[in-house]
Parts: sequence; structure tokens; C-alpha cells
Amino acid sequence: SAPATGTATGAPTGAPPTARAQQGEYLTTSTGLRLHDTDHSLKAGERGPTLLQDHHLREKIMHFDHERIPERVVHARGAAAHGVFIGYGTASKVCKAEFLEEGVETPVFVRFSTVVGSRGSADAVRDTRGFATKFYTKQGNFDLVGNNIPVFFIQDGIKFPDIVHAAKPHPDREIPQAQSAHDTFWDFVSLHTEATHHVMWQMSDRAIPRSYRMMEGFGVHTFRLVNAEGETSLAKFHWKPKLGVHSLVWEEAQLVNGVDPDYHRRDLYDAIEAGAFPQWELGIQVFPDSPDQTFEGIDLLDSTKIVPEELAPVQPIGTLVLNRNPSNFFAEVEQVAFHVGHLVPGIDITDDPLLHARLFSYLDTQLSRLGGPNFNQIPINRPHVPVNDMLRDGFHQHAVHTGVAPYKPNSLDGGCPFMAGNTTGAYIEVPQPVAAATKVRRSPASFDDHFSQARLFWKSMSPVEKEHLVRAFTFELGKCYEQAIKERQLRVLANVDAELCAQVAAGLGLPVPEADKPAPEVEPSPALSQLGGVWPTD
Ligand code: HEM
Repeated sequence: SAPATGTATGAPTGAPPTARAQQGEYLTTSTGLRLHDTDHSLKAGERGPTLLQDHHLREKIMHFDHERIPERVVHARGAAAHGVFIGYGTASKVCKAEFLEEGVETPVFVRFSTVVGSRGSADAVRDTRGFATKFYTKQGNFDLVGNNIPVFFIQDGIKFPDIVHAAKPHPDREIPQAQSAHDTFWDFVSLHTEATHHVMWQMSDRAIPRSYRMMEGFGVHTFRLVNAEGETSLAKFHWKPKLGVHSLVWEEAQLVNGVDPDYHRRDLYDAIEAGAFPQWELGIQVFPDSPDQTFEGIDLLDSTKIVPEELAPVQPIGTLVLNRNPSNFFAEVEQVAFHVGHLVPGIDITDDPLLHARLFSYLDTQLSRLGGPNFNQIPINRPHVPVNDMLRDGFHQHAVHTGVAPYKPNSLDGGCPFMAGNTTGAYIEVPQPVAAATKVRRSPASFDDHFSQARLFWKSMSPVEKEHLVRAFTFELGKCYEQAIKERQLRVLANVDAELCAQVAAGLGLPVPEADKPAPEVEPSPALSQLGGVWPTD
């Protein structure tokens, strides 16, 4: 079926490729046999017993028994919408991706999510939100799999199972369902201080958004962009909502979760049905592709760090409009499979160790979540361009491949003329030099600073934002059973800011600890110091 097309006017994009469903006038079995009754099983007499030969009963029950697939291991609860992305052409000096060219319209599918809760959990909980976008470009699918918080809990993807095990409900009682208010979460983040900056954002109002329509989105990692001349730059992606950034206050969130646990899902659906199409502007912060991959003293490969917009302004490169609700939640929202490795020419990865683990993880998890290796044939995942791969067979194979030679080189199926040294339009990895180095299991010293940007975040807040943050820390930590964990997290806060620590300690009725890593007197990054941040010496 025809690929979807978008329109700048906000009219619904064309329908995505669909599979055969609900055709004809009569109810049938899955093999097309016309039925006359689906309300009674076949029995030996009206009072039974039921006969094993009732193949309609057996098929109906068998299929129902297998309707569920595993929920996502993280980001299980979400809502999504179709839309269109329109490029401004302003990115062309740094990026050759066609979908960013002026006026190019690209169909998109965007899924918003919470991270920790299961599929049936409430929407307005305190949590990071996912903001994942699939661009069905003319050069293949590009996925920007981001969050509404610009930094992450961990610097190296090998810690991902640890943070998720700590944040998910306790294995013995399976509580709490979807909040940060528990011992394992605070135990982990107080021992693992690289999480501190993310935790500050998570205790702020950013973690209880008013609406998905009013959230920023961030690609978090630094990506490498390539322009038509082959020149490279480093960049971070930002989504800015046209409605502005708005949050609930904690008391509202509590009420909303009780009165309408589907609050964010309903809000997105209703807005689109009413024609109030949510919009975001996509922007990039651009940095020189310097050999050390730092900018103003900030390590661009460390996903626990931002680059303040005062130092590198976000430059707008396109607009996103969400204008059509999914027609089937399972087919589209559940089965969509995002992957940070879905790139297009002009966008490449950097050596961020968090990003590298993700490159493995998404494909791997989708293999079991979507039941085999053919999930990119599911309609919502299909690119809107011809596919000519050599992947064959496997569970849920829907394609009927022709020819005899799914291998290269071959002399039987016409060889491989489309590859014969022709790189035009092909994806070519940036020939980035890789330093000859010794194998090590450790991070660079530049990853050691865990507090200066957490402090910068605190200092950037208004008094009411600070008050909300203190109350969030007090409430969530107050739920811990273990006193030692609360005390350890207070010591972490003492390293961020003495006033913050004292206020949370007062709320918990505990003594104020000393900072063991005092704010340094020397501030070697004048740019950051001017913003109120303190740059580390340790
Ligand atoms: C799912 C974002 C780090 C593994 C997701 C989703 C988002 C996301 C938005 C939901 C996708 C959807 O709507 O279907 C991020 C961001 C990260 C990050 C922004 C850091 C910057 C990681 C890391 C790993 C990981 C380090 C593993 C090493 C997963 C897995 C899923 C997931 C397994 C479920 C995917 C699926 O079942 O389809 N992530 N994530 N993520 N993420 Fe991440």
C-alpha cells in the first residue's frame, strides 16, 4: 500500500501501510471459513459435554490465550501520535540529511512514555519521560530516541541493568509501582553519585509534566553531523514545545493520578481530535568536532552533562506537528520499535559509552518483545522507501522473497549492480580515527565530576522551584525504610549545595552532614562560572 505523506497545513498524514484486517461482510475464521454462530461451543446435546472437534472454539480460545506480548522492559507505559516534520533548511551548513532540507515534509510517529511503571500504571507520576520520534525519511527511517530530561543517570551503558533494577518495584513486594520513593532507588543513587544531576531534574517539576504537549525533548547524547562537503561537527538535539514547558504541582499530580490515571494519554488524544495539533521546534546545539570532543571544558561524551544554552544556543532546524491519532493501540503504539542505530546519511554516532550500549540493547530487546527478527516488517516500523535486504525467513516472516541468491557476491540474481562501488546516497560512517589504546574497564577522569552541574541546576532555579525540589526530596526520601540510606543521600546533597541539604535534612528531621567534596575555590571554566556554576578541581 502507498506510503504516508504529510502536509504542512496540519491535515492528517496518509495512512501507514496496513495489513489485511476485517475484510468482507461475514464473520469468518482466520482461514476465511464463514461462521454462523460464535456464541455457543459445539456440545454433545445442549447440556454438554463440549466437543474437542469444535475447531472454531479451539482457534478462538487459542488466539485469545496468546494476545499478550511482553511489555517493554522500560518505558512500558506510553502514548503516541502520527504527524509530519518540516525542515527549515537551516541545518544544511552542518548536516546533509535530506529530511532537514528546506520545505521537505517527512511523516513521523512519536511515542511519549514514562520509564519505570508497567503498562497499566498512572500517567502523572514523578518520572523521566521518553520522547521517541521515528522519521520515515526518503533515505530510510531515522529514530531520535530521547527523553524530556537532557541528562542521564549513568555514563556507561553497562550500568543500565543496575539503575533499572534499582528503580523498578522491589522484587519481593513489587512495590512501589512507579515512583522514586523507595529504598532500592535511593540506595543506588546515593552510592552512584554520577546519577546526582539526573536525580536533581527528577525531583524538580520537570518530572511531573502538565502534558506531553508541554514537554521539551532531548537526544541527550552528542551526535556527529556531516555536511555535503564531508565536514563534521558535534551536536545535541533539542525539541522545544510551541505551548511552552509546563508542569503540574505535586498536589495536582496526586489528584490527577487518582481521578484520571490516563491523564496524559487522554490529553494527547483529545487535543489531536479537537484539531489543537501539538507542535515542537527541533533545534541543535553545534560544537566544533575537536579531537578531545569537549566544549568549554565540558566532556561531550558524558551524558550526565549539559552544555548550557548560554554557551551554545539552540538553533532551530525544523517543526514537528502531531495531527493524527493511532487507529489501533497495539498495532502502532505497542509494536513500534525505536532504535538509536536507525540513522540516515548526515547523522553519525560519537564514542559516548552510553550510546554504544544502546546500539546493542534496542535490537536485542525487540527480538524477544516482538517475537523474532522480522519486526521491521510490522506496518508501523516499515520504512516508506523500498527495502532490498538479504535478510531471510525467521519467525513472522511476511515477505515472499524471490530469486535464489540472497548473498553477495552472486552471479545468478544479477550480481549486485546497485552496490558496484557507487556510494551516492549511501550511508558512510565518518572515518573517525580510533586511538591505539590499551583495553581498560574504566572511565576517563573527565567523567569524575558528579556535582558541579547539579549545583548549576539548583542555582538556576527560582525560589518556588527550589521549594518544590526540596519538598520532592523530602517526600520521596521520607518513604525509605532504611535510615542509613536517607543519611547517605543527605551527604550527596551536601556536595551539591549546603542550603539544599539543610532544607531537606530539616524536612526529614535529620542532622545536616558535612560535604565530603567541598565546592572548589578555583573555577577554571570562566564561561560556566559566569552562569553561577562551580567547576570542579577534583
Ligand atoms: C526504551 C530513551 C538509555 C535500553 C526507551 C524509550 C526511550 C528511551 C524514549 C522508549 C521507546 C519507545 O517509546 O518505544 C533512552 C534515553 C537514554 C536511554 C534517552 C539515554 C540517553 C538506555 C540505555 C539502555 C536502554 C543505556 C540499555 C543499555 C532501553 C530498552 C528499551 C528502551 C531495552 C525498551 C525498547 C523496546 O522494548 O522497544 N529508551 N534510553 N536505554 N531503552 Fe532506552
